[in-house]
Amino acid sequence: MNPWLITIPLAYLLGSIPFGYVLVKIFRKQDIRTTGSGNIGATNVARSGAKGLGIATLILDLAKGYIAVVIAQHLAPGNYDLAVAAAVAAILGHVFPVWLAFRGGKGVATALGVFLALNWPSALCTLAVFVVVFLLTRYVSLASIIAAATFPLFAFWFVPYRTPIVIAGLLFIPLLIIVKHHQNIRRLLSGTESRFGSRKVAA
Ligand code: G3P
Repeated sequence: MNPWLITIPLAYLLGSIPFGYVLVKIFRKQDIRTTGSGNIGATNVARSGAKGLGIATLILDLAKGYIAVVIAQHLAPGNYDLAVAAAVAAILGHVFPVWLAFRGGKGVATALGVFLALNWPSALCTLAVFVVVFLLTRYVSLASIIAAATFPLFAFWFVPYRTPIVIAGLLFIPLLIIVKHHQNIRRLLSGTESRFGSRKVAA
């Protein structure tokens, strides 16, 4: 059977598991979408007061992206186009999950997972950018945006493949992440974005 027919839907479904939403629903009986920034990601879960659940969300969102790409790599070893397509499908699953009426997260942790599986050196360089910006500003969103923007530079330095699918996929993922941060960008520009550790978030 054509590995694309299994891998892409599976990657989307894996990516679409809204761990932040599910964990907060189960353990706090809350809808994470109604608190803080309304995002289902680890930052907002931690912001809601559930630090442990925030860490669990980070790990699980990262793991689902990593696993989606590893499955592609196992089903079709050496097919980098398929691995990148699976990465995109997993991110699309997270950002547009069928289970939440296609209104999901911003894709940051899942992107780190897929990047680690696709090309760990560029993933670690991107993570380093994230950590530096975060430590300097305490803005997770700004760190995410700048890390996403720098990812293609690292990726095209380290990844030896240059097919149209690889190029498009490695540009599309960071672009989608940045676009999904449009409300954060507005808050950053108006000075109302909340720094990590502060629960206040402007609407
Ligand atoms: O991973 C999302 C992060 O960059 C921003 O989250 O909740 O502050 O919008 P949040």
